[in-house]
Parts: sequence; structure tokens; C-alpha cells
Amino acid sequence: MSRLFKVCSMEEVPAGTAYSYQVNNVVVAVFNIEGQYYAINDACPHAGASLSAGYLDGCVVSCPLHAWRFDVRDGTWVDNPCIATDAYPVTIQDGDLFIEFKEPQPE
Ligand code: FES
Repeated sequence: MSRLFKVCSMEEVPAGTAYSYQVNNVVVAVFNIEGQYYAINDACPHAGASLSAGYLDGCVVSCPLHAWRFDVRDGTWVDNPCIATDAYPVTIQDGDLFIEFKEPQPE
């Protein structure tokens, strides 16, 4: 089960930029790469720096603190693909971006 949450309008994140937004009690980094939008957890899993403030090279963002690199399409740590930060599917409705959070499943 998952739920959609509105993040922002498309215009707030021009191509080649990234911004962070608080959504469902999580700070989410939204990236616009050549008109495609991607969303990952904004907090770097190393020490919590804001990934939306990182250096973007293609689909890879480098953390501004220690340069760990993440693929914004799926959150994978490029240098060790066994590790990933959370990534959220993005949908667009009437010019607004929405992301999908999966509900935790009972064990
Ligand atoms: Fe991101 Fe260290 S806080 S690499």
C-alpha cells in the first residue's frame, strides 16, 4: 500500500536544479534533470548532509560534505551499489509533483 503526497509545483524546480521539501515528516530532495523529476531522501546516509545542496553531474549527485555519490534515479550509492538511500516515485498531476510513500507492512 502506498500514498501520494504533493511536493511542489513543476515550476519550483527548474531543469538542472534541486530543492528540498518536507513531505510526510521526511525531507525529500527533488531533482530536475532535463525535464525528468526524481526524488530521494535529502539526508545523506553518511552524516546527514543535504543532498539537494550537492553537485549534480548527469543523474549523479555528490554529497556536499564528503562527496559520496548517489544516483538520483533510484538512490543507489554509486561507489557501493549495495547501499542506497530512499527513492520515491514521482508523478505529475496538473503541473504539480507528487511522490509516493510506501506504507510500512506489518511483520
Ligand atoms: Fe554525505 Fe558525508 S555527509 S558523504
